[in-house]
Amino acid sequence: LKIIRSVKEMTDWSNEVRHKSDAIGFVPTMGFLHEGHLSLVRESTAHCDYTVVSIFVNAKQFGPNEDLDTYPADFEGDKKQLDSLNVDVLFYPTHEEIYPEGHTTFVTVEKLSERLCGKSRPGFFRGVTTVVIKLFNIVKPHIAFFGEKDRQQLGVIKKMVADLNLDLSIKGMPIIRDSDGLALSSRNDYLSKEDRDSSLSLSKALNKAKELFNGGETSTKAIKAEMVKLIESEKNTRIDYVSICHLENFKEMEKAVEDTLVALAVFVGKTRLIDNCLLGSR
Ligand code: PAF
Repeated sequence: LKIIRSVKEMTDWSNEVRHKSDAIGFVPTMGFLHEGHLSLVRESTAHCDYTVVSIFVNAKQFGPNEDLDTYPADFEGDKKQLDSLNVDVLFYPTHEEIYPEGHTTFVTVEKLSERLCGKSRPGFFRGVTTVVIKLFNIVKPHIAFFGEKDRQQLGVIKKMVADLNLDLSIKGMPIIRDSDGLALSSRNDYLSKEDRDSSLSLSKALNKAKELFNGGETSTKAIKAEMVKLIESEKNTRIDYVSICHLENFKEMEKAVEDTLVALAVFVGKTRLIDNCLLGSR
């Protein structure tokens, strides 16, 4: 595992690999890696000649009252895991390396970024798309891998790639869950024992939505009402949003159909968790 900290060295490495016509797979992360990240890494190493993983806690995607200063980190642990999965390069730049003084350019995907998480986290997707396009330009991957837990992030990035004619493909990978159903997230580390129990209300609410839809219910108002009831019955929960919407444009739907997206964000104590699923047989 080669650790690269400078943009110049990363770009030189990528240019050399591309010169040989070898395929570069890329997994961008903010570190504190869990099985969800590792499933993306395994997919990359299985399909690409070289795999690059980045660890960069991107300050530009955190709001003023969010958890930038407490975001969990375990660089040594991450390094060990990436090494054991035969990752070729760990790109681990400093903030100044990515955003040198005077950086003023941002990329925004309009409309898509304003819905769901974009409503309650203004500036979040602008920060994500800006850092992701910068990382794409530095790492120059042929394929980049993102988890479906951040379903809106995946959609926004795909839209950016299409709108700006970026020359790479984006692969979304299924959510990885703990055995009790909680979607893996670095932020799960914040949960107390009691909050961990309450956090199961997210996946339970999604299962409820699936069950209602499979039983013939298509009114999203009726499905949402049941989900809200279930989440609010757990201690310490505060709903940010429960949305039943179109998978590609994230617009709210009145009638659910096959492949309609159910997405939610819930504060459990102080921790904001997200999860989602698609309705229907898949
Ligand atoms: O999903 C994440 O961890 C981040 O939003 C990403 C894509 C690495 C950009 O900072």
